[in-house]
Amino acid sequence: MSNSIKKILITGGLGFIGSNFVRYFINKYPDCQIINLDKITYAGNPDNLLDIQDNPNYQFVKGDITDAKTVNPLFEQGLDAVVNFAAETHVDRSIDDASQFIMTDVYGTYVLLEAARKFGVKRFVQISTDEVYGEAVAVPCKEADTLMPKSPYAASKAGADRLVYSYYTTYNLPAVITRCSNNFGAYQYPEKLISLLITNLLEDKPLPIYGDGKNKRDWIYVTDHCRALDMVLHADNIEGEVFNVGSQCEYDNLSIAKTILDLLGKPHDLITFVGDRAGHVKRHAVNTDKIKNELGWTPETDFQTGMQKTINWYKENTKWWRKIKTCEYMEYYRTHYNLK
Ligand code: NAD
Ligand code: TYD
Repeated sequence: MSNSIKKILITGGLGFIGSNFVRYFINKYPDCQIINLDKITYAGNPDNLLDIQDNPNYQFVKGDITDAKTVNPLFEQGLDAVVNFAAETHVDRSIDDASQFIMTDVYGTYVLLEAARKFGVKRFVQISTDEVYGEAVAVPCKEADTLMPKSPYAASKAGADRLVYSYYTTYNLPAVITRCSNNFGAYQYPEKLISLLITNLLEDKPLPIYGDGKNKRDWIYVTDHCRALDMVLHADNIEGEVFNVGSQCEYDNLSIAKTILDLLGKPHDLITFVGDRAGHVKRHAVNTDKIKNELGWTPETDFQTGMQKTINWYKENTKWWRKIKTCEYMEYYRTHYNLK
């Protein structure tokens, strides 16, 4: 695969990880043509890629992955690869209303798979998530473990994950699936834990922590995820495979809050315990031996460095998040947390 990706479709490229990946990819492969298909939902933000919007090898298409009339002509042009980031991604919103999760995450993936089957691609990378495993009870989850998703978000991603696999087994579609742990870094919509806590603190607002704050996640710096995806896109003979991606860096939510408070020099009494999330997963963690041994990937950014970089980015880009924390966001925030 190495030099054969001349044209790539990236879906959801205006979101958090997608925009980091588009920027990473265009810098590393300046001769490759990138098409970014994004619906611009509340989480999609054209500001995320302002710096590359005029690059002649970058084309933005505003559109919905569930719409075959938009998707098919893009594949008809001849694509070498697809990376499907497009999704509804917030667990809490999926608990409020799962319909759009099923539409985009499952049906949208089906539309992309059909187009890939009809027009052909050399590689289809499905961005799944470690949440498809459900609880990591005793040890970090391995790729062959049972999928027991606990939230409507995770279940919709599990549906897409297995649908992609079925297109490999049934139609020989050259697909690969990745299941990454929780990402953090620049351009993350401030509804997710780390971006929410940092931006709240920059305004001296309380930090809402669900339940007892003991739930654990494995946190990976977003650029390390992008590097892993680059390897998955280019590696030979991995069709039909699943790769976990993670950093073996588990923290409970209370520790994350305290770390951010300390780095910003703010008092710990800003921590505010709020009602727990329904079906709240106690622990997500993945075993990453496979991607390390087979593709030679390892994370490069340790948690402290990544956190400091992330805090610096939010400090330096107040305009970016203040623009988000208006209308739709404030409405969601007020209703969801009952906090000001
Ligand atoms: P995000 O919510 O920041 O961005 C999602 C993007 O998809 C937005 O730009 C949105 O406009 C776009 N989109 C949504 N519905 C669409 C549709 N129907 N058609 C076209 N575009 C649409 O998400 P993220 O955090 O960057 O996550 C990206 C992917 O990575 C998702 O598939 C998610 O499940 C997966 N993932 C995320 C994490 C994480 O920690 N954030 C971890 C593992 C896997
Ligand atoms: P989140 O960032 O929503 O990611 P996910 O649920 O996909 O892992 O949440 C990460 C952890 O932080 C999870 O255990 C829920 C918790 N959390 C809070 O305690 N308070 C919050 O306001 C949010 C958004 C999350």
